[in-house]
Amino acid sequence: MGPTAVVTGVGGALPPRVVTNHELAQRLDTSDEWIRTRTGIRQRHVVEAGTSTGDLATEAGSRAMKQAGLDSVDLVVVATTTPDRLCPATAPTVASRMGLVGASAFDVSAVCSGFVYALQTATTAIAAGTAESAVVIGAESFSTLLDPEDRSTVAIFGDGAGALALRAGDRSEDGAVLDFDTGSDGSLRDLITVPGGGAEQRASGRPPAIGDTYFRMEGQPVFKHAVRQMSETSLKVLGTSGWAVEEVDWFVGHQANMRILRAVAGRLGIDSDRAVSNIERVGNTAAASIPLALSDSAAEGRLGRGDRVLLAAFGGGATWGAATLTWPELPPL
Ligand code: COA
Repeated sequence: MGPTAVVTGVGGALPPRVVTNHELAQRLDTSDEWIRTRTGIRQRHVVEAGTSTGDLATEAGSRAMKQAGLDSVDLVVVATTTPDRLCPATAPTVASRMGLVGASAFDVSAVCSGFVYALQTATTAIAAGTAESAVVIGAESFSTLLDPEDRSTVAIFGDGAGALALRAGDRSEDGAVLDFDTGSDGSLRDLITVPGGGAEQRASGRPPAIGDTYFRMEGQPVFKHAVRQMSETSLKVLGTSGWAVEEVDWFVGHQANMRILRAVAGRLGIDSDRAVSNIERVGNTAAASIPLALSDSAAEGRLGRGDRVLLAAFGGGATWGAATLTWPELPPL
């Protein structure tokens, strides 16, 4: 087998402003009890004026590079649903701000599956020898996309960023990124969507209808598809890696909803104490959720050297994906 990507650093970033369920309940027809019992979320972080996705991405990416002891990388991939601008991509600006002028840099758009897709893209580049090192970032200012009056989305989503630094290495090393399974079903595109503001609406010649530039989600079908696809994609990648479910030390699922995470872990037969979760504190941070969960778990000392880690996500598109990796020994920051 040829080279693969090896994790050498991890980083996270959260905007300082915290919005609790109680605060939301003061302005929306909701309650702390409803949000906690239906989603497992108690609070989320949100950006304030002056901060956006690129700022969070730069902070998380810089932390991962610092831990890796890297001054430069060949490739910067930013997974995001909330790029700073429709054009150009956010990644080149982030790369420049990280002192990486000259690096290949582009965005990946796969909503909540974005980080798995971005990690696959960077790993493939390293395996092909077109990059020796990379930083893969998931970053969102998701709150900027939400209808402030929509209790069903405002209660769920939050802002943040997470990142992994990668270098070329061997599959037998601790920290090796091993295998992927990814897929999509575009017939489900209306379940998670921002219908206005894109080429489809502009080419129609009609201005966006009121509310069309806000994020919309059909929660119940999304819930069912998320449970099914996250379970199936996990089993496929476990099969590719030749890992039995019992051999997985940590399941790091996209932090969509605590009930989705429990249902997927239950279907896979993974005990809840092996399922990583930070959704209570940060909510659903879309493309940032998996790397932010990795960053938080690493900071808490939960992930140990050589631990077998399974990542799985489901997102708009619909898209889904899973990955296997082992955890490296990382220097304290
Ligand atoms: N507070 C109070 N009531 C709320 C609410 C809130 N924050 N959000 C929705 N409701 C209401 C709905 O309006 C609905 O009211 P109605 O019956 O009068 O129409 C009622 O609660 C039930 O809504 P329903 O959608 O059936 O609730 P649910 O148990 O499915 O939970 C979600 C809603 C959104 C939490 C849940 O469907 C979910 O988590 N879906 C997946 C979301 C997700 O993971 N998205 C990202 C995937 S990548």
